[in-house]
Amino acid sequence: MTLPAIAQLKYATVWLALASLCCYGRRANAVALGRNNQTTYILPTKIIQEFPPDTWIENIAVRQNGQILVTETTQPRIYQIDPFGIQQLVVVHEFNETASVTGIVEAEPDLFYVSTANLSSNFDVSYGQAYIYRIDMRTFTYEDPASTEVTRIASIVEAGALNGLAYLGNGTDTLVSADTLKGVIWSVDTSTGQASVAINNTYTQPQGQAVNGLKVRGKDLYFTNLVQKLLAKVPVDSKGRATGPTAILANSTFQPDDFALDLNGDAYVASPLTHQNAVVFVPREGGAAVPIATTAGPTSCAFGRTVQDCHILYVSTSRGDEAYMEGRADVVSGKVVKIEVGRQGMHGCSRDGQ
Ligand SMILES: *[C@@H]1O[C@H](CO)[C@@H](O)[C@H](O)[C@H]1NC(C)=O
Ligand SMILES: *[C@@H]1O[C@H](CO)[C@@H](O)[C@H](O)[C@H]1NC(C)=O
Ligand SMILES: *[C@@H]1O[C@H](CO)[C@@H](O)[C@H](O)[C@H]1NC(C)=O
Ligand SMILES: *[C@@H]1O[C@H](CO)[C@@H](O)[C@H](O)[C@H]1NC(C)=O
Ligand SMILES: *[C@@H]1O[C@H](CO)[C@@H](O)[C@H](O)[C@H]1NC(C)=O
Ligand SMILES: *[C@@H]1O[C@H](CO)[C@@H](O)[C@H](O)[C@H]1NC(C)=O
Repeated sequence: MTLPAIAQLKYATVWLALASLCCYGRRANAVALGRNNQTTYILPTKIIQEFPPDTWIENIAVRQNGQILVTETTQPRIYQIDPFGIQQLVVVHEFNETASVTGIVEAEPDLFYVSTANLSSNFDVSYGQAYIYRIDMRTFTYEDPASTEVTRIASIVEAGALNGLAYLGNGTDTLVSADTLKGVIWSVDTSTGQASVAINNTYTQPQGQAVNGLKVRGKDLYFTNLVQKLLAKVPVDSKGRATGPTAILANSTFQPDDFALDLNGDAYVASPLTHQNAVVFVPREGGAAVPIATTAGPTSCAFGRTVQDCHILYVSTSRGDEAYMEGRADVVSGKVVKIEVGRQGMHGCSRDGQ
């Protein structure tokens, strides 16, 4: 490449960077997310990490430094992905006690929890094993990923298959964990390892592929239910028990897996099945679930957290759509893709990226 070409490339990059910094609001309007019910503006997706065939990436979280953590259900692994393309993909930890890693959430800066399930990658089989581990990313280094401290803090013997995981915040010791097979939400005390059923109602049931994704925002616990095709929220106490009625935010037009919330409480939901293969938008007050991007087998979403990428939604994917559930492994490989949605995530936008 000649020097002028490099200079031009740099100008183009700077221009793009400026454009993204100045125009969040305008872009959000252009997309008309949730404003014009009829408009479906399909945003482009860009692959930032592609895994080998036969890899189901189940959930995703973003560290405050911008690095992405994902969980795998086909092998019991946690990976770190650099969305800025500087570092290589790294296996943060591979478990030896359980078949699949499912939910992931940050409780304190760089202190994450994951849930596991002893189930085959065909999601219909329950083996009744469920653990919660603490993953201390403060001890992680690229030179020695094995230095990451991993501690099992709870074993929930009565659980079916743990899926989405969320932290109640405000210095509580409470995690909530969606048991998709038993159709309940568990409350887990991270200091004692004690677990009890926090929510078991019409909207978390039935047993099978029920309650799935979980997020906490303020006093509200948001959850999806795959078979009932709904996104709902319920106010909870510091143990995750309902303190009021469940409100349905969207139902019937999607098949929701896990999701992300933006700063205002609008939801971005992975909707993998029924040929939809979309990320759908649900406005904070509830309403129609509108597809905003398509990608094969989306499983969960998380916003970037640095100034470079806090307007970007990262989406984890399985190795395909419902063909996977039918035992066909011929669809696609698991991925993480990015979508510029022009909205900031629940965590906002920090300056200490990279
Ligand atoms: C499983 O991993 C733990 C900690 O990483 C280790 O102490 C234990 O020996 C391993 N067990 C087997 C059977 O490899
Ligand atoms: C996982 O389930 C399989 C099949 O039921 C069982 O053989 C195995 O012991 C279970 N693993 C653990 C750690 O309980
Ligand atoms: C949830 O409630 C149903 C009935 O409402 C009950 O049959 C089931 O055992 C409960 N599940 C758990 C794990 O407590
Ligand atoms: C946490 O504390 C903040 C500030 O006091 C409050 O607004 C919020 O509702 C609390 N969240 C929960 C889950 O209690
Ligand atoms: C589901 O949505 C339909 C129409 O969108 C609505 O009539 C129905 O009441 C909703 N169900 C619940 C439980 O909110
Ligand atoms: C858009 O949907 C909302 C409910 O989500 C409804 O109140 C409003 O009337 C709809 N607007 C149009 C133009 O259909």
